[in-house]
Amino acid sequence: MNDLTSLIAATQATLERIARDFSPAVFASSLAAEDMVLTDLILKAGLPIGIFSLDTGRLHPETLAVVDAVKARYDYAIALYHPNAQAVDAYVAENGLNAFYDSVEMRRACCGIRKVEPLGRALAGKRAWVTGQRRAQSTTRAELAVEEDDAAHGMTKFNPLADWSEQDVWDYIRANDVPYNALHDQGFPSIGCAPCTRAVQPGEDVRAGRWWWENPDSKECGLHMVDGKLIRIKSVAA
Ligand code: ADX
Ligand code: SF4
Repeated sequence: MNDLTSLIAATQATLERIARDFSPAVFASSLAAEDMVLTDLILKAGLPIGIFSLDTGRLHPETLAVVDAVKARYDYAIALYHPNAQAVDAYVAENGLNAFYDSVEMRRACCGIRKVEPLGRALAGKRAWVTGQRRAQSTTRAELAVEEDDAAHGMTKFNPLADWSEQDVWDYIRANDVPYNALHDQGFPSIGCAPCTRAVQPGEDVRAGRWWWENPDSKECGLHMVDGKLIRIKSVAA
């Protein structure tokens, strides 16, 4: 077995274990490349892990188009969660539409309304959730484990691609002809909300285009934090 074959086998085993032992479990998809690998693995195996995406209201049209591509390819409708409209209106009325450029606090407040609160709704009543995070993505993810205790949400969190490299992700996508966000071919290795994501230059860090005006150590949106800290509690081999 080559490296990718064994990575795929380990990831399939993790996903099967989640479906078997942690039901009901859900997968949070940002609709970017990593998440399309997991989408392909979950849907091809017919695993009972629901897939949802947080539609922040600020996503690129190319990102939202992936929802339709998944429907066309797998006949699967990704569930979309939206922010509380009143909270968005109040934030925008008080601070303006793009206040997240002003400070880390204003940025985290926006992520809190548009991502973190809807995530809580998406995870309510679940026993585990799955993400597409990889260790190699950033300094904040260097210690990432495949399985973690998520105290904030009171459940287990799985990062089945923790060991995968960016090359592994793209090798899988090409070999399996997986649909992907068109922005990846336009210099966007990592994709979040449109105003907070820009293209990177060849050789630049993959997350250099995310919240590029901030220090690399603050560049987490809050989806993966507990009480302002990253969750790195339990390390269990898949
Ligand atoms: S993050 O800082 O925005 O969280 P990144 O874009 O690298 O970073 O995403 C990491 C993981 O968080 C994704 O693989 C996915 O599981 C989850 N995630 C991020 N954004 C969303 C979103 N809009 N909807 C659902 N899940 C998301
Ligand atoms: Fe708001 Fe930017 Fe966070 Fe999206 S990534 S929720 S626009 S601060």
